[in-house]
This record gives sequence, structure tokens and C-alpha cells, in this order.
Amino acid sequence: MKILQIMCHPDYNGEHRVSNILAKIGEEKLVEKGFSSVEKINLYDPSVHIPVMDKFMFNYEEEKLTEKEQHDKIRQKEILNQWKSTDAVFIYMPLHNFNVVSKFKDYIDNIVIVNETFKCEVESLIGLDDSDKQITFVITSGGEFDKHIQYTNLDFAVQYVRGIFGVLGIDKIKVLRVEGLDLAFNDKEQIVKKAIVDLKAWIEEFSRKNKK
Ligand SMILES: Cc1cc2nc3c(=O)[nH]c(=O)nc-3n(C[C@H](O)[C@H](O)[C@H](O)COP(=O)(O)O)c2cc1C
Repeated sequence: MKILQIMCHPDYNGEHRVSNILAKIGEEKLVEKGFSSVEKINLYDPSVHIPVMDKFMFNYEEEKLTEKEQHDKIRQKEILNQWKSTDAVFIYMPLHNFNVVSKFKDYIDNIVIVNETFKCEVESLIGLDDSDKQITFVITSGGEFDKHIQYTNLDFAVQYVRGIFGVLGIDKIKVLRVEGLDLAFNDKEQIVKKAIVDLKAWIEEFSRKNKK
């Protein structure tokens, strides 16, 4: 089984970041459970190029693209192939202004491609991705969604992730919220400890379901 770990923290190598700590622990747990093939992509690492889409490059012949666009098209194919060949995905992300971080949106624009991962029919979009693909979305946030009433209407990030992967035909989405990390009255250490326990427990379950 091939697993892709997508790290989305703008402080891409900040070792104190909860998102990065959980990604490391998640990877170690997967390896411990016998999943040896964990590929990683760290979206904000300057050495990782995520093309920013301004046209549907798949629809253009090479000669109609600029040199930069030709490079981007090759890179987009790499990103898309990596995504398509993956059986399970672990995403680690901080919540920024109630939404997914911008490089993750750029990443999505490289994999949500008509006739590659979904197709359009008259009144609906049909997912072409592997419907068995399991997505795990670990989202850290400063505030708490079940305590602040305003947050209910601003819960875009999780909705977006569920919605966009739904377009691809994927509905196996496990969400792990790590909330309230920046609230002065909370014990951050305890929240992180609980998140580690929850993540490890989920990987145990994931492992039982996916052992071949
Ligand atoms: C630019 C920016 C925007 C943020 N927006 C939100 C927000 O809308 N809601 C929220 O609960 N936390 C918000 N936060 C707080 C982060 O989500 C929180 O500090 C982070 O998840 C902690 O995890 P980390 O250690 O991995 O950075 C924001 C932080 C930054 C830097």
C-alpha cells in the first residue's frame, strides 16, 4: 500500500509546530505498523515546486505553451501521477483564516483535473479517483469550533476538503481536529498529548482495515 503524507505548514521545517510534530509521529506510527512506503511532500519547502494554475495546461499542445508552462505541465503530471498512484493520504495542516493554507489550494489545482480525476456530465460531476482511497485530514487551530458560535459558519476548511475530494469520488475522509491551541486558558501540552493519542489510535484502526 502506497501512502502519501502532505505537510502544509508555511513554517515547513519548524520542529515546534504541532502540525509538523504530528506528521512526524504519524509517519513513525505508520512505519511501525508495517507501512514501509510513505512518500512525503512538504508544500512550503522551497525546493518543492507546486505550479500555480492560470490555464488548463492539460488541454494545450506543448508548442502553445511558454517554456515555463511546459515545465509546469511536466511537474503537474508528476504531482498528478503521485496522487493517483497513492492508496491513502495523510494531510497535516494549520487552520489559517478559517481556510486551508494557500499552497494546499495550489496543490488541489494540480490534481483536480477534468477527465483525469473527475468528469463532467450534464448535471453532475463524476469522480474518477479510487473511491477506496482513505484521506486523513489533521487540522490544527488556535480556536475551538464547538465553543465559538461564529466558528460554525466559518468551518470552511473541513467542508472544502470533504467537498473537493467528494468531487473526485472519495468519501473516506477521517478528520482529526486539534483545537484551541492558542487559547490562553487551555493547556496546550495536554491538547497535543491527546492529539498524539488520537492520531496513533486512528493509525491502529487504519492499519487493521488496510492490512493485506
Ligand atoms: C495567518 C494565521 C491565521 C490564523 N487563522 C486562524 C483561524 O482562522 N482560526 C483559528 O482557530 N486559528 C487560526 N490561526 C492559529 C493557528 O491555526 C494555530 O496557531 C496553529 O494551528 C497551531 O499549530 P502549529 O503549531 O502547527 O502552527 C492562525 C494563525 C496564523 C499564523
